[in-house]
This record gives sequence, structure tokens and C-alpha cells, in this order.
Amino acid sequence: MKIIIVTTCLIILPCLIKCEDKSFLKIPNNLKIGAATSAYQIEGGWNTSDKGQSNWDDFTHSKSHLILDGSNGDIACDSFNKYKEDVQLLKNVGFNHYRLSINWARILPTGFANKISKEGIQYYKNVIDELHSQGIEPFVTLFHWDIPNVIAKMGGWTNELIVDYFTDYARVVFRELGPKVKVWITLNEPNVDCSEAYDKETHAPGLNMPGIGSYMCGHNMLKAHARVYRMYQEEFKKTQNGILGISISSSYWFSKNKNEPESGDIAFQNGCGWFLNPIFSKDGDYPPIMRKRIDENSKLEGHPKSRLPVFSPEWIEYIKGTFDYFGVNHYSSRYTENVPYNNITGWYDDTGIIESVNQSWPRGASSWLYVVPEGIGELLRKIKNDYNNPPIYILENGYSNYGNETNINDINRIDYLYSYMKEMLVAINRDGCNVKAYTVWSVLDNFEWSKGYTERFGIYHVDFNHENRTRTPRLSVAWLTEVIRSKQLISFDEFKAKFM
Ligand SMILES: *[C@@H]1O[C@H](CO)[C@@H](O)[C@H](O)[C@H]1NC(C)=O
Ligand SMILES: *[C@@H]1O[C@H](CO)[C@@H](O)[C@H](O)[C@H]1NC(C)=O
Ligand SMILES: *[C@@H]1O[C@H](CO)[C@@H](O)[C@H](O)[C@H]1NC(C)=O
Ligand SMILES: *[C@@H]1O[C@H](CO)[C@@H](O)[C@H](O)[C@H]1NC(C)=O
Repeated sequence: MKIIIVTTCLIILPCLIKCEDKSFLKIPNNLKIGAATSAYQIEGGWNTSDKGQSNWDDFTHSKSHLILDGSNGDIACDSFNKYKEDVQLLKNVGFNHYRLSINWARILPTGFANKISKEGIQYYKNVIDELHSQGIEPFVTLFHWDIPNVIAKMGGWTNELIVDYFTDYARVVFRELGPKVKVWITLNEPNVDCSEAYDKETHAPGLNMPGIGSYMCGHNMLKAHARVYRMYQEEFKKTQNGILGISISSSYWFSKNKNEPESGDIAFQNGCGWFLNPIFSKDGDYPPIMRKRIDENSKLEGHPKSRLPVFSPEWIEYIKGTFDYFGVNHYSSRYTENVPYNNITGWYDDTGIIESVNQSWPRGASSWLYVVPEGIGELLRKIKNDYNNPPIYILENGYSNYGNETNINDINRIDYLYSYMKEMLVAINRDGCNVKAYTVWSVLDNFEWSKGYTERFGIYHVDFNHENRTRTPRLSVAWLTEVIRSKQLISFDEFKAKFM
């Protein structure tokens, strides 16, 4: 175990003695284990029937130079046609649930609720029916980074009108698909998408407005999430009785220096508290430290108002408490250090924090993916302690290989999943964290956004050069199947000794 400086007050020592205790490695009966994908990354069928264009269709076609291998999701895994096979792949592993997302432009071709695509709705009905027929529970995401291109052209999430349009879209989805869906995710990783798509040019629509775009986007996403949550309570909860939440991407941040134990939490508040605090905290609104630093920077830059928009007291109340569970996607961790305030340049990067890594951490194919399993345990305990022990749904966790290798014997992925699941199980079985679901990203290799097909997260390999997009199980499929069947986490070595 690494020597680490922890940002919150936690009992870490007992772990050194007891982590290996097998009773901690039992998978509780009520912990749901599943796998995830998203619409644009797997479906293909980009121009079938009356489907509208999405921001990602437009972005990959008009700015293919921004995609590492120049590729797109026109066909991707062809899951639009191969969904029955995909459900069988999920069934083979014994997954409890499948997290999928809806392509807004597939069911509302104009982007607006004036026209509903029968074929689009039917596709998702077919997928959901197929899942139920195989005993797999659908977890459905309304927004996983694709929006109708017409709305992207209007500024996407920086235009407040999207709050209404998103609510109209969600109402159609609840009405049509809601009777057979019990777990909803409103927005996937709003913190990542707002930064990549509006501050930068790495995600569609790529508006490239640093320090401005992301905060406008986040402001409207918070409003849209709350509106949809409350609309569901009023119009659908009684008859459909599902649960709703938002899925935030969160690393864990370890304060690097003993004399600044707060730096990890400051990074957490800016990265994640941005969306968590308004929804999950007792007082609501943006984290005070985020408010303060962006306000101060904005002033130094001569802005008459803060670059971080302000919620009215009514909106603060309206957004607060709009959750049935705490959704989190987690992959990696960072070290943090304070950068002192400077009255000419202001707070570094609005946060006042620089992040670093430990060169001894193993890595995945994705540049950001350092393997730091202890981070997931710390994150779960932090959520438990700081947010009143909510039900936690881990909605993504996974490991990437390079796309130029098939990596059928994906022992690195097994090691990653084992070490992260182990820390999660200790957090549940020893520390009482209320984790209800664990979801592997991803069941299939898929279109990894600006990295195209160069990074592969699938437990099933997909041959993107083959017209049939042939799926082949990697070794992690056999390992996971055994773990789910026996409800006991085992390492690769134990698996090998017993089964290979
Ligand atoms: C990085 O990891 C190594 C090996 O675990 C450890 O000795 C070292 O102290 C770590 N570095 C920092 C900055 O914590
Ligand atoms: C759909 O797009 C494909 C390319 O992905 C193209 O070959 C095909 O002609 C298009 N179909 C229609 C109906 O536009
Ligand atoms: C900025 O800080 C320096 C010392 O760090 C101080 O001398 C100077 O007066 C400050 N300027 C303003 C405008 O506060
Ligand atoms: C693709 O799949 C179809 C249907 O299973 C099959 O008939 C066809 O031969 C396959 N194509 C290739 C090139 O393997």
C-alpha cells in the first residue's frame, strides 16, 4: 500500500491489517453489478429512417481532424442492428443491469417535441424489451453528450432555452419508455462535458470559450436536471415509480503536502462539488470556495460580473434535493498542491490548485487513466461522510487498452477491476458505504470520443474493420462471470489457479 496523505479524517490503518480478510471480498446480495455504454459510442445508424442529426454527427463529419484517428460513430458497433446480440453478451456475464443512453435526435428528429419518430421510439422499446426478456434491468441515461444539432447550433447547453427543450424531450421519453424503466440518469458527467465541449473544442459542439462556456453550460444543466427531476415527480412518479439521479465524474484528489491538507478537497469542490453541492448539500448552491475564487478572478480580469452565473434563491431551493441516489463515474486519482493567490494573475486556473500524478502509478491507454485503486475507497467514504450517507450508484468504472492491439488476454483490465472492486467492497463491508450498484465501462469496445477507436474499454473486443463488427470476449469476461456467479471477488492469480 502506498503512503498517502488523506484529505479527510478516515480510518485507514485498519485496512493495512484487514483488507485481505476474505469476508470483505464478499459481494453483498443487494449490490447490483452491471455494464454501461452510450448511444453515440455504440449505436451507429446515424442516418436511419427519420433520425435527426446530432451534435456528434456534425462534429465528427465537419471537424474530423479533431478526432485522433479521423473516425466517427456512423456505424460504431452497429448496435442499432445488433442489440439482440449485445443483450446476449450481457446475459452471458450474468450482469444485473445494463446502462444505456437515448439519442435525443433519434426520437425527436427536429430536436423539438413537435415530431416524434415512431422508429426511434420503437428501437429503444425493442432494446428495453429484449433486456427484460433476459432478466436484465435497464438503467437509462437521457443525456450522454449527444444533443440535436439544431440545438447545438443555438449554443447547446449555453442557451437557457435548452432547459425547456430538454424537459420536453424527457417527458416524451418517460411517457413512451417509462413504464419499463425504473432507474434514470438525467445527465452523464456534466462536469466533463461542460469543460470539453464549451471551454474547449474536444467535445461537440466545441465552442472553445475558456472560463465562460463551461460555467454557462453547468448553470443550465443544473436547472435542466432539476426541472426534469421535478417534472417526473409531478407527472410520472405515481404511476411509474422510478428513481432519478445525475452521474458526476469524480476523481479522488490526495493532498500532496502535509501542511496543506485542504488542497484535495478544494480540487474536489471545483471538479465535482460544482454539481454536487447545488443538488446534494444542505445549503445548496455552488461550493463557497468555487464562488469565491471565480468571483475574485473575474474581478481582477475586469468583468463587471462573475464568470460563474448566480442562482436566485428560488433556483437554489428548486435544485436542492433533486436526487434519489448519488451517481458517480470514477476512474482515477490525482495529487493536489495549492498555488498561492497572486493579486495580478489571480487564482491559478480558477481553482488555485495544480494536479500531479505519481510516476509509479500504472497506466491505461488513456492519457488520464492512472491506476489508483485506493482513490475509489476514499471517494466512497468522502461521499458517505460529507453528504449524509446517500445511496451510491457507481455508474462507470473501467480500464482502456490500446486500439492497435486486440488484447484478448486483458490481464491489466482484470487487475484494475479487481483492485478497484476490492477497495469498493472494503468501503461497503467494513465502512458501511451505501453502494447499491457497480457498473463496468464498458461491455463493448466503442467510439471513445476525440480518441476515436484508439482506446478500447470493452470487456468484449469489437473488430471495427469487419462489416459484422464481430464481438470477441476478452479474458475479463470469464473472470467477471465467475466473480458475479460466486459473489466472491478473486484476483487474476486465484482465477488462473482454479480455472485456467
Ligand atoms: C509515489 O509512490 C511511491 C511508491 O509507492 C512512493 O514511495 C512515493 O512516496 C510516492 N510519491 C508521492 C509524491 O507521494
Ligand atoms: C447513410 O450514411 C452512410 C454512410 O455512413 C451512407 O453510405 C448512406 O448512403 C447514408 N444513407 C442515407 C439514406 O443517407
Ligand atoms: C499586490 O501584492 C503586493 C505584494 O505581494 C503588494 O505590494 C501590492 O500592493 C498588491 N497590490 C494590490 C493592488 O493589492
Ligand atoms: C456477417 O454476418 C452474416 C450474418 O450472420 C453472415 O451471413 C456473413 O457471412 C458475415 N460476413 C462475413 C464477411 O463474415
